Amino acid sequence: MDAYDTNESDRSGGQCPVPHGGTSGSEGKCPVMHGGNTSMEQKPMHWWPKSLNLDILHQHDTKTNPMGEDFDYQEEVKNLDFDAVKKDLTALMTDSQDWWPADWGHYGGLMIRMAWHAAGSYRIGDGRGGAGTGNLRFAPLNSWPDNGNLDKARRLLWPIKKKYGNKLSWADLIILAGNVAYESMGLKTYGYGYGRSDIWHPEKDTYWGAETEWLAPSDERYDDVETPSTMDNPLAAVQMGLIYVNPEGVNGNPDPLKTAGQIRETFARMAMNDEETVALTAGGHTVGKCHGNGRAENLGPEPEAADVEEQGLGWINHKTRGVGRDTVTSGLEGAWTTNPTQFDDGYFDLLLNYEWQLTKSPAGANQYEPVDLPEEKKPVDVEDGKTRYNPMMTDADMAMKMDPAYREISERFAKDQKYFEETFARAWFKLTHRDMGPKARYIGPEVPAEDLIWQDPVPAGSKDYDVAVVKAKIAEAGLSIGELVATAWDSARTFRGSDLRGGTNGARIRLAPQKSWEANEPERLNKVLSKLVPIAKETGASIADVIVLAGNVGVEQGIQA
Ligand code: HEM
Repeated sequence: MDAYDTNESDRSGGQCPVPHGGTSGSEGKCPVMHGGNTSMEQKPMHWWPKSLNLDILHQHDTKTNPMGEDFDYQEEVKNLDFDAVKKDLTALMTDSQDWWPADWGHYGGLMIRMAWHAAGSYRIGDGRGGAGTGNLRFAPLNSWPDNGNLDKARRLLWPIKKKYGNKLSWADLIILAGNVAYESMGLKTYGYGYGRSDIWHPEKDTYWGAETEWLAPSDERYDDVETPSTMDNPLAAVQMGLIYVNPEGVNGNPDPLKTAGQIRETFARMAMNDEETVALTAGGHTVGKCHGNGRAENLGPEPEAADVEEQGLGWINHKTRGVGRDTVTSGLEGAWTTNPTQFDDGYFDLLLNYEWQLTKSPAGANQYEPVDLPEEKKPVDVEDGKTRYNPMMTDADMAMKMDPAYREISERFAKDQKYFEETFARAWFKLTHRDMGPKARYIGPEVPAEDLIWQDPVPAGSKDYDVAVVKAKIAEAGLSIGELVATAWDSARTFRGSDLRGGTNGARIRLAPQKSWEANEPERLNKVLSKLVPIAKETGASIADVIVLAGNVGVEQGIQA
């Protein structure tokens, strides 16, 4: 059994630690209220399940904010010594700790996987998920099967978090660790923006799927699992507890072409096209390794289910060694490339130039091994530089070779390493910043100057116009209160707080597709815009401003009426 086909976890734990009646002589009951006041089963919602649950209104309520109401991370982070943090992180990468030794003495792979899994939960459907809030620290994400052993990565970062305190959020630190890891392995990154504020308790408003079992079969979230586009929206992962796809194939059955279909859909739901998808998968697996040299059954419960003496860590193996070369995480085992601590061209070299055959990892997971790979191309053991093992590929990696569209891109990258590195660096930047909203929110010395299309750039509006004149012209335009207010509202109501996209900025309501949305009543909208656009031209105000001012004029007229 490997980590992707178990939903077992040892939750038995709960023996009472209090010596019953040992000294008091009082017979029978334990004096400690075991879950008496906290158990979910005893909550009013259990007795009256149809009551209206208003819990969501308390999510991240300012009264529970441990930072205090006046704390503004976006201001605080400007006081951070950016160079010093990066220096400390660079040193951390190769400072192997006995309690969780670094593979080949470098934590880069682990840190990159953590950053990727933090960012990779983002989906464009509702703008939720992503690395922007530090939610990887909390349930359910901290305990997803796919996030196995990322608790160790965060614990390794703890001394740095402690050193820089509130000037550096967990959310920023997690992504920065991924960036620094790449840089210390030889990649020139595209940039980095600080500015992600932490949440301080788990989110209640994100739908991760209806299943009540980890890794329940994909079928439950598809109308037809053979048609990837039928996956339940806004989800962007194929099974409960995964970031994107199952590395062993659809429902754990290896078939790279079918997996390619699921990869294409899940990555598209995070706004990634085919080229970005190949770049990310290859660039991700150019470094690090999979861990499955042991039995998943030996792992203890995930962090959220682990006993208090595990101190917040999970998946602790108390039965066998369980670290270094004996680590079990995904259950797949092995590195992808010859030099897994260097960002080089090894991934495509091995994937495209050698035959691969299906095999099983020591933990029993489906994976591929090369046929007749020369000894010197095999990566060395993580603890012993003299022993070499075969590298491996997951079903998802094989998709980069077997799917015709992915293959074409892979070959292009294989021929032009510089192009691959640049494309990857840009895709990595997008992956890790996409959920932050407008570029104006990025902070720090490494914010790239270039405007990128996915940042939804809008031309800088003008403040150099007379608001009173604009409002007077709107009032004389012969539009009704309803037309003025409805247009402003239609234009504003596309805004969402999750990834700060949409809204009035840019006056997108006058462009496709919004101008044709039935809910925007295109005929009425056209009529209103035919009056407002000329006012913008005459006065120098942006159309976006004129639309909002029109709403104000309408409301003011309504109040007077
Ligand atoms: C197509 C989707 C992907 C699948 C199915 C996948 C699957 C996996 C699996 C099974 C592991 C092994 C985890 C372990 O046992 O420790 C792994 C490791 C890793 N993945 Fe991915 N991955 C995908 C995409 C990515 C992307 C987009 C990135 C980053 C850009 C990435 C970066 C990494 C890294 C760096 C590791 C090594 C971790 C370590 O050395 O500890 N992966 N991946």
